[in-house]
Amino acid sequence: MKKILPLKNLRGEIQVPGDKSISHRAVMLSGLGSTPVEIENFLMGADCLSTIECMRAMGVNIREHGDKIFVKGKGLHGLREPENILDAGNSGTTLRLLLGLTAPQNFVATFTGDASLRRRPMARVIAPLTQMGASIVGRNDNQNLPITVCKPARKFQAITCELPVASAQVKSAIILAALYADGVTTIVEPAPSRDHTERMLFAFGVPIEKQGNTVVKISPVEKLTAPEKITVPGDISSAAYWIVLATVLENSSVTIKNVGINKTRTGLLDVLTRMGAQIEILNPHESGGETSADLKITSAKLHGFEFGGNVIPRLIDEIPALAVAAAFAQGDTIIHDVGELRVKETDRLAAIVSEFNKISRGSFVADGDTLIIHGGAEKNFASCKTHGDHRMAMALTIFGAADSGVELDDAVCVNISYPNFFETIGD
Ligand code: S3P
Repeated sequence: MKKILPLKNLRGEIQVPGDKSISHRAVMLSGLGSTPVEIENFLMGADCLSTIECMRAMGVNIREHGDKIFVKGKGLHGLREPENILDAGNSGTTLRLLLGLTAPQNFVATFTGDASLRRRPMARVIAPLTQMGASIVGRNDNQNLPITVCKPARKFQAITCELPVASAQVKSAIILAALYADGVTTIVEPAPSRDHTERMLFAFGVPIEKQGNTVVKISPVEKLTAPEKITVPGDISSAAYWIVLATVLENSSVTIKNVGINKTRTGLLDVLTRMGAQIEILNPHESGGETSADLKITSAKLHGFEFGGNVIPRLIDEIPALAVAAAFAQGDTIIHDVGELRVKETDRLAAIVSEFNKISRGSFVADGDTLIIHGGAEKNFASCKTHGDHRMAMALTIFGAADSGVELDDAVCVNISYPNFFETIGD
């Protein structure tokens, strides 16, 4: 149980931890290089620690020191067969990307994960990998965990595939497998998803080609040329909670330092600005193909907004935080095309409706793949369930802090992506 008290305002400077998506990719790609890499501002959250453990189990040498890790890779063809089952914990990114990475290897690897990950859909990644030559067996007809990746029966072949959903995890799994495949693999997405894998591979010397925002072409390579150092930007998905809280709490002004503002991740900033938020982007700078900046947020009155389509993959993880903002806006906010929320760490659409309505009765409605939020209703103190989902826990925390307080059944799950989350609100 954790009780969150109402906050008067939010002021000062905030540092958010390193980006989760980029941290995963940094340790995986460094593991495929053959020279030492120092990774700075690495996210020491449970999900990325799962990736570290899986890479170690395949022979990669990784040393942790504060928020830095030092990785000595085994080369593109040097990973070894893990002696035991690989545990991806709660992390969809660990599992899906490592399915792509292990599928072409000449060894057997079995994966499992926690109860949440064991329920999540894996056929979306197993199907294209199988087309390339992978031999992967899941637990049931849905291909759920545990999953065994067998030695491939034939040499991997490039494919052209049109993804049915915009998913960076599926795209990245195929990209990693394509490094080992004969021919040019082409991936077409229905909308642009985050492109951290492409950017980081480029920094590792892989000539990956983009056509527009939704087509990626990748050819096999002999080796990855690792950079000596990677600096991970702050995670905009973690900054989202403070962006929303500072916006809706009167008399607030915060500067969130060094946040990644890759265009495939900044949908929240675009939508909140359209709703009336005051967000300034200061000191933008480039590092390793990613752009970071300081974000200055000042309190503002919000109004409802209707949106969907291509912006959704650019803010999919921020929808719980955005739903909180919408509850403080004047008028209705209507968010279309959010069916993917049903297959996240929990069914986030159902969880938002069941838990957020305990704080603001009748404000949150799910209608098919659309989330409707009636803004401006009265808020009350409530006891809510996080469903063991880190983003639900953090969104509920700011919802309570912004008005009447909240009690959470399980707040430990914030460790997945933001271990010191509660320190920022003085707890
Ligand atoms: C992620 C991609 C997104 C996102 C997840 C992290 C990644 O998932 O929701 O939290 O690091 O590639 P999908 O690829 O399933 O959309």
